[in-house]
Amino acid sequence: MSEIRNLINITDFTVEEIDELIDVANDIVENHSEYEDICNHKKLGTLFFEPSTRTRLSFEAAMLELGGSVLGFSEAGSSSAAKGESVSDTIQTVGCYVDIIAMRHPKEGAPIVGAKRTTVPIINAGDGGHFHPTQTLTDLLTISRKKGRLNNMTIGLCGDLKFGRTVHSLIEAMLRYEGIKFVLISPEELQVPDYVKASMDKAGAEWVEVESLEDAMPELDILYMTRIQRERFFNEEDYVRLKDSYILDLDKLSNAKEDLTIMHPLPRVNEISTEVDDDPRACYFFQALCGKHIRMALILKLLGIKREA
Ligand code: CP
Repeated sequence: MSEIRNLINITDFTVEEIDELIDVANDIVENHSEYEDICNHKKLGTLFFEPSTRTRLSFEAAMLELGGSVLGFSEAGSSSAAKGESVSDTIQTVGCYVDIIAMRHPKEGAPIVGAKRTTVPIINAGDGGHFHPTQTLTDLLTISRKKGRLNNMTIGLCGDLKFGRTVHSLIEAMLRYEGIKFVLISPEELQVPDYVKASMDKAGAEWVEVESLEDAMPELDILYMTRIQRERFFNEEDYVRLKDSYILDLDKLSNAKEDLTIMHPLPRVNEISTEVDDDPRACYFFQALCGKHIRMALILKLLGIKREA
């Protein structure tokens, strides 16, 4: 029997495996009909203990487009977690019903606990302020499609870099590519955690912390905006003080590169003005579409299913 693979952190996959996932995602778009029944009789469990639009629905759309089916819950309150059931008991139970599980949980490390209690593959769909590896796969596919490469570029990450799990995972992933410079744009209180800085130093990456988005703009190839996340703050006063630290509008883009790629994992609140949506450099809804394609490729990989040649 082959070894069960999980995706808890983006570094669970090698760069070569990520390249393969990107190739499969592109093949899915080019040869969609070849994949329509490929997951016939397979079931995906979506266990979302935290709210989600894109991650949950793109996973569900991905499995349905592959010919499989989906069951699960979209809030802890509609599961037996509301009666005090532990995460590990929930996972062990759902593992009896499905072939693969995507789970989101507010507690960091919950998917690791879950993975120990089941023999079906577990996908971390976001654990607290920790990691969000399928968002990172989405981001890598988006960058690859927009830039035609994953190396040699300057990436600006802006907003809540402290609690932003998408930022932590993206940095981890991009550290493995040549010639990446990170420009970390945030208020002092929301700078990336020390363990992320240590990873960048260990990898010998070039990085700088700044507070001004306008000053950083001209050198950026990618601008990755993030939401200041109300749900991660311990007190409302701090949130209110910091929530509008960065609002990207057309005026701020006036000194940006013409081929800048503007990304955002979404949801957004105020941090990108809607007037930017029609700018050809705005890629965040394209990014949401990429999320479905890469999750289709991921489900196939973890189930060990390949398109017949
Ligand atoms: N990007 C992302 O994780 O969005 P959702 O919270 O809507 O899933």
